[in-house]
Amino acid sequence: MRNLTVNGERLWASLMELAQIGATAKGGVCRLAASDLDAEARRLFIRWCGEAGCTVTVDRIGNMFARRPGRNPDLPPVMTGSHLDTQPTGGKFDGAYGVMAGLEVVRSLNDLGYETEAPIEIVAWTNEEGSRFSPAMVGSGAFTGVFDLSAALATPDNNANDLTLGAELERVGFAGEAPVGGRVVAAYFEAHIEQGPILEAAGLPIGVVTGAQGQRWYEITVIGQEAHAGPTPMPRRRDALVGAARIIDAVNRIGHAHAPYACATVGFVQVSPNSRNTIPGRVFLTVDFRHPQDEVLTAMDRELRAACAEAAASQNLEADVKEFWYFPPTPFDQRLVNAVREATNAQGFANQDIVSGAGHDAVYMAKVAPTAMIFVPCVGGISHNEIEDAKPEDLTAGCAVLLNAVLECADRK
Ligand code: GLV
Ligand code: MN
Ligand code: MN
Repeated sequence: MRNLTVNGERLWASLMELAQIGATAKGGVCRLAASDLDAEARRLFIRWCGEAGCTVTVDRIGNMFARRPGRNPDLPPVMTGSHLDTQPTGGKFDGAYGVMAGLEVVRSLNDLGYETEAPIEIVAWTNEEGSRFSPAMVGSGAFTGVFDLSAALATPDNNANDLTLGAELERVGFAGEAPVGGRVVAAYFEAHIEQGPILEAAGLPIGVVTGAQGQRWYEITVIGQEAHAGPTPMPRRRDALVGAARIIDAVNRIGHAHAPYACATVGFVQVSPNSRNTIPGRVFLTVDFRHPQDEVLTAMDRELRAACAEAAASQNLEADVKEFWYFPPTPFDQRLVNAVREATNAQGFANQDIVSGAGHDAVYMAKVAPTAMIFVPCVGGISHNEIEDAKPEDLTAGCAVLLNAVLECADRK
């Protein structure tokens, strides 16, 4: 195992410059997928990669690949990266860190005049967040064949149904020419902030990620009847929002019932007609369930469906429950996980194994290539929040681990 270092100041400076694009008043970033700001960040990425001697290609769904040649052009690339899109109240590091860490790996190799055997590609995946366009991980999902390309491009904007991901990518100039997927990747690494509290609480700079927990997402439509808020007596009402409130409470209870590992969230609610003096006739809401064990996710699914039926019956409503997205708990590749652990130990960084609570493009890449992730702590375990923060020394440590783990694969003959 090599033991090379990276330029942490340059990594930090790039992260801070990138964070200016979509910067919010509270110190975070709002850079939604396929928006004008996303395009601006993409152009900066392409410029930096060009300056680092990489050739950038953009595929039909906007995934960007910056290739640093290796000695042997016939070898498949070792790929590393993450995403440039953010949540509406996102931070400076979620996604951006993995992409900038990939760039710093390339810049550090350039500084050393180090020629790898296999090419290295820095990737920035399209629409990882799944906030503007749902579900998440759409670019990597199309690349790995999980999502049909035309269906992925037809994904509507959650707040403006007449806009699609494909049309927005075209509008901002990032519906590229390259075909999506269908090529061999030797290995995929993704560096990311943990987005939870474990590493910080343990005082550790590095988490060796052994896999990601599974997720089930649902879209639920509760249908009642609109009626006048004044003359309609309480017993006659079919108030869809009351049913939805009971479902939301049940989701939270299901999460608590499967402690300590279950997570259960309702993060998106649309009330119709959303008028103060009309009883709500229709509510649309989303549910996000996560757990590291598939059988628990299955139990949570059963409990959700029962709770929806009960809530609907209690108010004389209909509740339509659609499972919208699912991926099972995903273990990462043992050889690559070991490479991350060995690179961490070689650098002398204290570490522990950790399972990812968040979804990542690595989950889909694990379907087509040996994959592993590196976590660094984030302040207070807070992410998907404008106050998201991370320490420069931890980011540097994670990037150094990435560099040496990448070399372990890129120099294999
Ligand atoms: C991605 O940000 C997720 O929801 O895990
Ligand atoms: Mn992310
Ligand atoms: Mn995120």
